[in-house]
Amino acid sequence: MNSFGQTPIVMGTGVYIPRDRIENDDLVASFNEYVAVENKRREKTGEPLLEGSNSGFILEASGVRARHVLEKTGILDPARMVPHLPDRRDEALSIQAEFGVASARLAIADAGLEPVEIDLVICSCAHHQRPYPAIGIEIQKALGCAGGAFDMNVACSSTTFAMHLAAQMVRSGAARNVLVCSPEIMSGHLNFRDRKTHFIFGDASASVVIGGRREKPGSPAFEIVHSDIWTDFSSNIRSNFGFLNRTIPPAANNDDKLVTQVGNKVFKEVVQAANRVVRAFLEKAGVGVDQIERFWLHQANIKMIRTLMRMLASEEMTERVPITLAEIGNVAAPGSIIAFDKTKREVPVGGYGLICSFGAGYSIGCLLLKRVA
Ligand code: COA
Repeated sequence: MNSFGQTPIVMGTGVYIPRDRIENDDLVASFNEYVAVENKRREKTGEPLLEGSNSGFILEASGVRARHVLEKTGILDPARMVPHLPDRRDEALSIQAEFGVASARLAIADAGLEPVEIDLVICSCAHHQRPYPAIGIEIQKALGCAGGAFDMNVACSSTTFAMHLAAQMVRSGAARNVLVCSPEIMSGHLNFRDRKTHFIFGDASASVVIGGRREKPGSPAFEIVHSDIWTDFSSNIRSNFGFLNRTIPPAANNDDKLVTQVGNKVFKEVVQAANRVVRAFLEKAGVGVDQIERFWLHQANIKMIRTLMRMLASEEMTERVPITLAEIGNVAAPGSIIAFDKTKREVPVGGYGLICSFGAGYSIGCLLLKRVA
């Protein structure tokens, strides 16, 4: 370690879950109302009829009971099915920056730092409200952080990839205290008229502070012992939304400009990849699966989590996986960090925990943590 570089430590975390909550039954009622109206139109045109959604299926297939969103009335209106999140003036704090600041303040306080002691802000999530100026820079300004800021996006692995980067920057001395902020507004990019995806996701904001010291007594600190990233191209989770959309003639069906996925393929392929990647990762770190006290896994689907744990060790080991998806759904990038935030105190000092995200790309990010305080 040179005189500037420091051993990276997760110093603090913060989570903000929006108040609006949608239960499966409410989501399905609004979807089925939309289907009834749409099918009347389709009966006249001869287009194929849509099938309804079903709360029983949702719970059984995914384990999700409810999700939280920034604004639910627009989503639940069958004539609209898009949240009401109106544009703000350029001078006002943007919706996503405000959402990010809500968890960032908690994480910085948990770390025992002042905002000015943060010298890098990475706003990392699957969706950014605009391409520039970076949302991260807006968050930096709103908080009063020093140094620089930028945005990054690796879909559901955005937070873990940013933490991997932050750890390397702290280790090398390129940054002293990094704020990784993931204000994920999934509801703005979700097709609530697609029964295959409408139930999966929710909104959440989570932040992590990674630095070289432990500032706040009484709040758990975790050394990042090892971290790594893995990717392999696949279109099975994809959005074609982008700035070149305006160069093509408007299409009758723009559904590919929202989240689309071939869920069952993703399930199989990602679980297999995660099994291989996590095994190799732990082997390289020299730590056995059974030494991991808590697995803070990406929160996409309870069956996926159980299958992965069966492949890695045994289904009983699922007891060591904190589950948040039942009450907040899959919140994309911040999912595994929310699970970490809620249960980090359950790991004794000296014990290990694993953060692992998986998602579009495909992408998998792993961090091996050791509790040091
Ligand atoms: N209500 C009722 N039936 C539904 C439905 C709904 N909302 N959505 C799909 N179905 C139907 C399908 O049309 C299909 O019907 P068919 O057999 O007549 O064709 C049937 O249910 C099974 O669909 P399938 O997609 O195979 O279900 P599944 O058991 O794989 O569960 C997911 C679907 C999405 C929950 C699951 O595949 C999954 O979680 N995949 C991984 C998702 C993921 O990790 N995504 C990204 C990571 S960030």
